[in-house]
Amino acid sequence: MKIVIFGSGLIGRCWALLFARAGNTVQLYDKEPAQLNGALDDIESKLKGLQSSGLLQGQAVADVLKRISTTTDLDGAITGADYLQECVPDIVDLKRNVFAQLDALVEKTGNSKIILASSTSVIPASTFTEPLKHRSRCLVAHPINPPHYIPVVEVVPAPWTSPEVTAETRRILDSIGQAPVVLNCEVEGFLVNRLQFALLMEGYRLVEAGVCSPADIDTTISKGLGLRWSFMGPFQTIDLNAPGGVDDYCKRYNPGVVRVCKDFGETKDPSPETVAAINAAMREEVPFEDLAKRREWRDNRLAALAVHKLQMDQLDKASKQ
Ligand SMILES: NC(=O)c1ccc[n+]([C@@H]2O[C@H](COP(=O)([O-])OP(=O)(O)OC[C@H]3O[C@@H](n4cnc5c(N)ncnc54)[C@H](O)[C@@H]3O)[C@@H](O)[C@H]2O)c1
Repeated sequence: MKIVIFGSGLIGRCWALLFARAGNTVQLYDKEPAQLNGALDDIESKLKGLQSSGLLQGQAVADVLKRISTTTDLDGAITGADYLQECVPDIVDLKRNVFAQLDALVEKTGNSKIILASSTSVIPASTFTEPLKHRSRCLVAHPINPPHYIPVVEVVPAPWTSPEVTAETRRILDSIGQAPVVLNCEVEGFLVNRLQFALLMEGYRLVEAGVCSPADIDTTISKGLGLRWSFMGPFQTIDLNAPGGVDDYCKRYNPGVVRVCKDFGETKDPSPETVAAINAAMREEVPFEDLAKRREWRDNRLAALAVHKLQMDQLDKASKQ
Protein backbone atom coordinates (compact mmCIF):
# COMPACT_ATOMS: atom_id res chain seq x y z
CA MET A 1 0.00 0.00 0.00
CA LYS A 2 0.98 3.62 -0.50
CA ILE A 3 0.62 5.56 2.74
CA VAL A 4 0.83 9.29 3.47
CA ILE A 5 1.59 10.53 6.97
CA PHE A 6 0.50 14.18 7.30
CA GLY A 7 2.48 15.77 10.16
CA SER A 8 5.85 14.38 11.21
CA GLY A 9 5.84 15.05 14.97
CA LEU A 10 5.76 12.53 17.79
CA ILE A 11 2.84 10.44 16.53
CA GLY A 12 3.43 10.88 12.77
CA ARG A 13 6.89 9.32 13.14
CA CYS A 14 5.47 6.34 14.99
CA TRP A 15 2.81 5.77 12.32
CA ALA A 16 5.49 6.00 9.62
CA LEU A 17 7.56 3.24 11.20
CA LEU A 18 4.52 1.03 11.84
CA PHE A 19 3.37 1.21 8.21
CA ALA A 20 6.91 0.76 6.86
CA ARG A 21 7.65 -2.19 9.16
CA ALA A 22 4.66 -3.96 7.60
CA GLY A 23 6.14 -3.48 4.09
CA ASN A 24 4.23 -0.38 2.94
CA THR A 25 5.63 2.64 1.09
CA VAL A 26 5.37 5.70 3.32
CA GLN A 27 5.58 9.38 2.41
CA LEU A 28 6.00 11.67 5.37
CA TYR A 29 4.72 15.23 4.86
CA ASP A 30 5.05 18.27 7.10
CA LYS A 31 4.74 22.01 6.64
CA GLU A 32 7.98 22.45 8.62
CA PRO A 33 11.02 21.15 6.71
CA ALA A 34 12.98 21.16 9.99
CA GLN A 35 10.54 18.63 11.43
CA LEU A 36 11.01 16.37 8.42
CA ASN A 37 14.80 16.59 8.78
CA GLY A 38 14.67 15.33 12.34
CA ALA A 39 12.02 12.72 11.64
CA LEU A 40 14.08 10.16 9.74
CA ASP A 41 16.87 10.12 12.39
CA ASP A 42 14.30 9.69 15.12
CA ILE A 43 12.53 6.91 13.22
CA GLU A 44 15.86 5.15 12.68
CA SER A 45 16.63 5.22 16.39
CA LYS A 46 13.12 3.92 17.21
CA LEU A 47 13.59 1.13 14.65
CA LYS A 48 16.91 0.19 16.28
CA GLY A 49 15.08 -0.05 19.61
CA LEU A 50 12.46 -2.32 18.05
CA GLN A 51 15.13 -4.45 16.43
CA SER A 52 17.06 -4.91 19.68
CA SER A 53 13.81 -6.08 21.30
CA GLY A 54 13.16 -8.53 18.45
CA LEU A 55 10.12 -6.55 17.29
CA LEU A 56 11.23 -5.87 13.70
CA GLN A 57 10.12 -9.26 12.40
CA GLY A 58 13.67 -10.20 11.36
CA GLN A 59 14.08 -7.18 9.07
CA ALA A 60 17.13 -4.91 8.86
CA VAL A 61 16.61 -1.35 10.07
CA ALA A 62 17.92 0.00 6.74
CA ASP A 63 15.38 -2.06 4.77
CA VAL A 64 12.46 -0.66 6.76
CA LEU A 65 13.86 2.86 6.60
CA LYS A 66 14.21 2.63 2.81
CA ARG A 67 10.41 2.44 2.53
CA ILE A 68 9.99 5.87 4.16
CA SER A 69 10.61 9.11 2.28
CA THR A 70 9.91 12.70 3.24
CA THR A 71 8.08 15.09 0.95
CA THR A 72 6.78 18.64 0.74
CA ASP A 73 4.77 17.81 -2.41
CA LEU A 74 1.36 16.94 -1.04
CA ASP A 75 -0.32 16.66 -4.47
CA GLY A 76 2.23 14.05 -5.51
CA ALA A 77 1.92 12.19 -2.22
CA ILE A 78 -1.87 11.97 -2.40
CA THR A 79 -1.93 10.86 -6.02
CA GLY A 80 -2.41 7.11 -5.97
CA ALA A 81 -2.21 6.83 -2.15
CA ASP A 82 -4.44 4.30 -0.38
CA TYR A 83 -4.48 5.77 3.11
CA LEU A 84 -3.53 9.05 4.78
CA GLN A 85 -2.99 9.39 8.51
CA GLU A 86 -3.26 13.00 9.71
CA CYS A 87 -1.06 13.86 12.71
CA VAL A 88 -1.22 17.62 13.33
CA PRO A 89 -1.88 19.09 16.80
CA ASP A 90 -5.32 18.74 18.38
CA ILE A 91 -6.67 22.20 17.55
CA VAL A 92 -10.17 22.19 16.05
CA ASP A 93 -9.55 24.99 13.53
CA LEU A 94 -6.29 23.41 12.40
CA LYS A 95 -8.02 20.06 11.84
CA ARG A 96 -10.80 21.88 9.90
CA ASN A 97 -8.26 23.66 7.69
CA VAL A 98 -6.16 20.56 7.10
CA PHE A 99 -9.16 18.39 6.20
CA ALA A 100 -10.50 21.11 3.85
CA GLN A 101 -7.06 21.17 2.20
CA LEU A 102 -7.04 17.37 1.92
CA ASP A 103 -10.60 17.30 0.55
CA ALA A 104 -9.61 19.78 -2.18
CA LEU A 105 -6.57 17.68 -3.06
CA VAL A 106 -8.61 14.48 -3.23
CA GLU A 107 -10.86 16.30 -5.70
CA LYS A 108 -7.93 17.71 -7.68
CA THR A 109 -6.00 14.43 -7.92
CA GLY A 110 -9.16 12.38 -8.54
CA ASN A 111 -8.07 9.92 -5.84
CA SER A 112 -11.49 9.51 -4.27
CA LYS A 113 -10.63 6.01 -2.98
CA ILE A 114 -8.12 7.31 -0.40
CA ILE A 115 -9.01 7.01 3.30
CA LEU A 116 -8.37 10.15 5.41
CA ALA A 117 -7.84 9.15 9.04
CA SER A 118 -7.17 11.56 11.89
CA SER A 119 -5.00 10.66 14.90
CA THR A 120 -6.95 13.06 17.13
CA SER A 121 -7.23 12.01 20.76
CA VAL A 122 -10.39 13.98 21.54
CA ILE A 123 -12.05 15.66 18.55
CA PRO A 124 -14.80 13.68 16.79
CA ALA A 125 -14.42 13.66 12.99
CA SER A 126 -17.92 15.20 12.60
CA THR A 127 -16.49 18.40 14.12
CA PHE A 128 -14.05 18.97 11.26
CA THR A 129 -15.35 17.06 8.21
CA GLU A 130 -19.05 18.02 7.90
CA PRO A 131 -18.88 20.38 4.87
CA LEU A 132 -16.41 18.25 2.89
CA LYS A 133 -17.25 16.71 -0.48
CA HIS A 134 -15.34 13.52 0.37
CA ARG A 135 -16.44 13.33 4.01
CA SER A 136 -17.52 9.70 3.63
CA ARG A 137 -13.78 8.86 3.34
CA CYS A 138 -12.93 10.53 6.71
CA LEU A 139 -12.80 9.08 10.22
CA VAL A 140 -10.70 8.99 13.40
CA ALA A 141 -7.98 6.39 14.01
CA HIS A 142 -6.64 7.32 17.45
CA PRO A 143 -3.50 5.52 18.65
CA ILE A 144 -2.02 5.37 22.15
CA ASN A 145 1.51 6.64 22.65
CA PRO A 146 3.88 4.94 21.89
CA PRO A 147 1.87 2.95 19.31
CA HIS A 148 4.80 0.68 18.40
CA TYR A 149 4.53 -0.77 21.92
CA ILE A 150 0.79 -0.24 22.59
CA PRO A 151 -1.15 -1.62 19.63
CA VAL A 152 -4.73 -0.54 20.32
CA VAL A 153 -6.18 2.06 17.91
CA GLU A 154 -9.67 3.50 18.36
CA VAL A 155 -11.48 3.72 15.04
CA VAL A 156 -14.34 6.23 15.30
CA PRO A 157 -16.47 6.92 12.22
CA ALA A 158 -18.43 10.15 11.80
CA PRO A 159 -22.17 9.72 11.06
CA TRP A 160 -21.35 10.09 7.33
CA THR A 161 -18.31 7.83 7.17
CA SER A 162 -18.93 5.05 4.67
CA PRO A 163 -19.12 1.63 6.41
CA GLU A 164 -16.67 0.33 3.78
CA VAL A 165 -14.16 2.97 4.85
CA THR A 166 -14.50 1.92 8.49
CA ALA A 167 -14.13 -1.77 7.60
CA GLU A 168 -11.14 -1.08 5.34
CA THR A 169 -9.47 1.01 8.07
CA ARG A 170 -9.85 -1.88 10.47
CA ARG A 171 -8.34 -4.23 7.89
CA ILE A 172 -5.41 -1.90 7.21
CA LEU A 173 -4.66 -1.45 10.94
CA ASP A 174 -4.85 -5.22 11.46
CA SER A 175 -2.44 -5.70 8.55
CA ILE A 176 0.23 -3.57 10.26
CA GLY A 177 -0.07 -5.46 13.55
CA GLN A 178 -2.16 -2.90 15.47
CA ALA A 179 -5.29 -3.83 17.41
CA PRO A 180 -8.20 -1.72 16.12
CA VAL A 181 -11.34 -1.30 18.22
CA VAL A 182 -14.20 0.07 16.16
CA LEU A 183 -16.87 2.27 17.76
CA ASN A 184 -20.34 2.22 16.20
CA CYS A 185 -20.81 5.95 16.74
CA GLU A 186 -19.06 9.02 18.05
CA VAL A 187 -18.99 9.52 21.80
CA GLU A 188 -17.20 12.15 23.88
CA GLY A 189 -13.76 10.82 24.93
CA PHE A 190 -14.07 7.82 22.61
CA LEU A 191 -13.37 4.56 24.50
CA VAL A 192 -9.86 4.90 25.86
CA ASN A 193 -10.39 8.17 27.68
CA ARG A 194 -13.87 7.28 28.97
CA LEU A 195 -12.41 4.23 30.71
CA GLN A 196 -9.19 5.96 31.74
CA PHE A 197 -10.93 9.07 33.06
CA ALA A 198 -13.50 7.07 35.07
CA LEU A 199 -10.60 5.54 37.01
CA LEU A 200 -8.72 8.83 37.30
CA MET A 201 -11.79 10.67 38.62
CA GLU A 202 -12.37 8.03 41.30
CA GLY A 203 -8.66 8.29 42.21
CA TYR A 204 -9.04 12.07 42.68
CA ARG A 205 -12.13 11.55 44.84
CA LEU A 206 -10.53 8.92 47.06
CA VAL A 207 -7.43 11.06 47.66
CA GLU A 208 -9.59 14.15 48.28
CA ALA A 209 -11.71 12.26 50.79
CA GLY A 210 -8.52 11.17 52.60
CA VAL A 211 -9.31 7.47 52.05
CA CYS A 212 -5.81 6.66 50.81
CA SER A 213 -2.63 8.23 49.50
CA PRO A 214 -1.87 8.88 45.80
CA ALA A 215 0.84 6.18 46.05
CA ASP A 216 -1.77 3.66 47.25
CA ILE A 217 -3.90 4.34 44.16
CA ASP A 218 -0.90 3.81 41.87
CA THR A 219 0.19 0.63 43.70
CA THR A 220 -3.33 -0.80 43.45
CA ILE A 221 -3.07 -0.56 39.67
CA SER A 222 0.65 -1.22 39.03
CA LYS A 223 0.95 -4.13 41.45
CA GLY A 224 -2.69 -5.19 41.44
CA LEU A 225 -5.41 -4.76 38.86
CA GLY A 226 -3.01 -3.67 36.11
CA LEU A 227 -1.28 -7.07 36.09
CA ARG A 228 -4.46 -8.73 34.87
CA TRP A 229 -5.42 -5.78 32.71
CA SER A 230 -2.24 -6.12 30.68
CA PHE A 231 -3.70 -9.22 29.04
CA MET A 232 -7.44 -9.28 29.78
CA GLY A 233 -10.26 -6.77 30.07
CA PRO A 234 -13.00 -6.32 32.70
CA PHE A 235 -15.53 -8.63 31.06
CA GLN A 236 -12.95 -11.37 30.54
CA THR A 237 -12.00 -10.87 34.19
CA ILE A 238 -15.51 -11.31 35.60
CA ASP A 239 -16.11 -14.31 33.34
CA LEU A 240 -13.41 -16.13 35.32
CA ASN A 241 -14.28 -14.71 38.72
CA ALA A 242 -17.46 -16.74 39.31
CA PRO A 243 -17.81 -20.51 38.91
CA GLY A 244 -20.61 -20.14 36.33
CA GLY A 245 -18.97 -17.42 34.24
CA VAL A 246 -20.27 -13.95 33.52
CA ASP A 247 -23.98 -14.76 34.12
CA ASP A 248 -23.17 -16.18 37.50
CA TYR A 249 -20.93 -13.20 38.31
CA CYS A 250 -23.70 -10.75 37.45
CA LYS A 251 -26.21 -12.57 39.66
CA ARG A 252 -23.83 -12.86 42.58
CA TYR A 253 -21.97 -9.58 42.44
CA ASN A 254 -23.86 -6.94 40.45
CA PRO A 255 -25.89 -5.77 43.48
CA GLY A 256 -22.54 -4.97 45.11
CA VAL A 257 -21.23 -3.34 41.92
CA VAL A 258 -24.29 -1.09 41.78
CA ARG A 259 -24.15 -0.28 45.52
CA VAL A 260 -20.48 0.77 45.31
CA CYS A 261 -21.01 2.77 42.12
CA LYS A 262 -23.92 4.66 43.72
CA ASP A 263 -21.45 5.69 46.44
CA PHE A 264 -19.16 7.41 43.92
CA GLY A 265 -19.07 11.15 44.54
CA GLU A 266 -19.50 14.12 42.28
CA THR A 267 -17.63 14.56 39.00
CA LYS A 268 -15.65 17.78 39.43
CA ASP A 269 -12.18 19.26 39.36
CA PRO A 270 -10.11 18.03 42.30
CA SER A 271 -9.37 20.83 44.77
CA PRO A 272 -6.01 22.67 44.59
CA GLU A 273 -5.06 20.90 47.86
CA THR A 274 -5.70 17.49 46.28
CA VAL A 275 -3.66 18.39 43.21
CA ALA A 276 -0.87 19.63 45.51
CA ALA A 277 -0.96 16.38 47.49
CA ILE A 278 -0.74 14.29 44.30
CA ASN A 279 2.06 16.50 42.98
CA ALA A 280 4.02 16.19 46.27
CA ALA A 281 3.67 12.40 46.17
CA MET A 282 4.81 12.23 42.54
CA ARG A 283 7.83 14.52 43.15
CA GLU A 284 8.86 12.44 46.16
CA GLU A 285 8.93 9.39 43.91
CA VAL A 286 10.48 11.08 40.84
CA PRO A 287 12.12 14.50 41.19
CA PHE A 288 11.06 16.92 38.47
CA GLU A 289 14.50 16.90 36.80
CA ASP A 290 14.29 13.10 36.43
CA LEU A 291 11.00 13.05 34.50
CA ALA A 292 12.70 12.58 31.10
CA LYS A 293 14.66 9.60 32.48
CA ARG A 294 11.43 8.22 33.93
CA ARG A 295 9.73 8.44 30.50
CA GLU A 296 12.61 6.46 29.07
CA TRP A 297 12.16 3.91 31.88
CA ARG A 298 8.43 3.68 31.03
CA ASP A 299 9.19 3.06 27.36
CA ASN A 300 11.74 0.37 28.25
CA ARG A 301 9.20 -1.35 30.49
CA LEU A 302 6.59 -1.12 27.72
CA ALA A 303 9.07 -2.59 25.22
CA ALA A 304 9.78 -5.52 27.55
CA LEU A 305 6.04 -6.04 28.07
CA ALA A 306 5.40 -5.92 24.30
CA VAL A 307 8.03 -8.66 23.78
CA HIS A 308 6.53 -10.77 26.56
CA LYS A 309 3.00 -10.39 25.17
CA LEU A 310 4.13 -11.29 21.67
CA GLN A 311 5.79 -14.47 22.96
CA MET A 312 2.73 -15.42 25.01
CA ASP A 313 0.39 -14.72 22.07
CA GLN A 314 2.53 -17.01 19.91
CA LEU A 315 2.36 -19.75 22.59
CA ASP A 316 -1.44 -19.30 22.84
CA LYS A 317 -1.76 -19.56 19.05
CA ALA A 318 0.43 -22.68 18.93
CA SER A 319 -1.57 -24.36 21.69
CA LYS A 320 -4.81 -23.81 19.75
CA GLN A 321 -3.47 -25.45 16.57
N1 LIG B 1 1.33 12.84 21.59
C1 LIG B 1 0.56 11.85 21.99
O1 LIG B 1 0.79 11.20 23.01
C2 LIG B 1 -0.62 11.44 21.14
C3 LIG B 1 -1.23 10.19 21.35
C4 LIG B 1 -2.31 9.82 20.54
C5 LIG B 1 -2.77 10.68 19.55
N2 LIG B 1 -2.17 11.90 19.39
C6 LIG B 1 -2.69 12.78 18.35
O2 LIG B 1 -1.79 12.85 17.28
C7 LIG B 1 -1.89 14.15 16.68
C8 LIG B 1 -0.50 14.74 16.56
O3 LIG B 1 0.05 14.88 17.87
P1 LIG B 1 1.63 14.93 18.08
O4 LIG B 1 1.83 14.72 19.55
O5 LIG B 1 2.34 14.06 17.13
O6 LIG B 1 1.93 16.47 17.73
P2 LIG B 1 3.35 17.14 17.40
O7 LIG B 1 3.22 18.54 17.84
O8 LIG B 1 4.47 16.31 17.95
O9 LIG B 1 3.45 17.09 15.80
C9 LIG B 1 2.59 17.81 14.98
C10 LIG B 1 3.24 17.98 13.61
O10 LIG B 1 2.28 18.56 12.74
C11 LIG B 1 2.95 19.52 11.92
N3 LIG B 1 1.95 20.47 11.44
C12 LIG B 1 1.26 21.41 12.13
N4 LIG B 1 0.42 22.07 11.31
C13 LIG B 1 0.57 21.55 10.07
C14 LIG B 1 -0.03 21.81 8.82
N5 LIG B 1 -0.95 22.74 8.68
N6 LIG B 1 0.37 21.09 7.76
C15 LIG B 1 1.32 20.12 7.89
N7 LIG B 1 1.92 19.82 9.08
C16 LIG B 1 1.55 20.53 10.15
C17 LIG B 1 3.99 20.14 12.85
O11 LIG B 1 5.03 20.78 12.11
C18 LIG B 1 4.46 18.91 13.62
O12 LIG B 1 5.53 18.26 12.96
C19 LIG B 1 -2.86 14.96 17.52
O13 LIG B 1 -4.14 14.92 16.94
C20 LIG B 1 -2.87 14.21 18.83
O14 LIG B 1 -4.09 14.31 19.55
C21 LIG B 1 -1.10 12.30 20.14
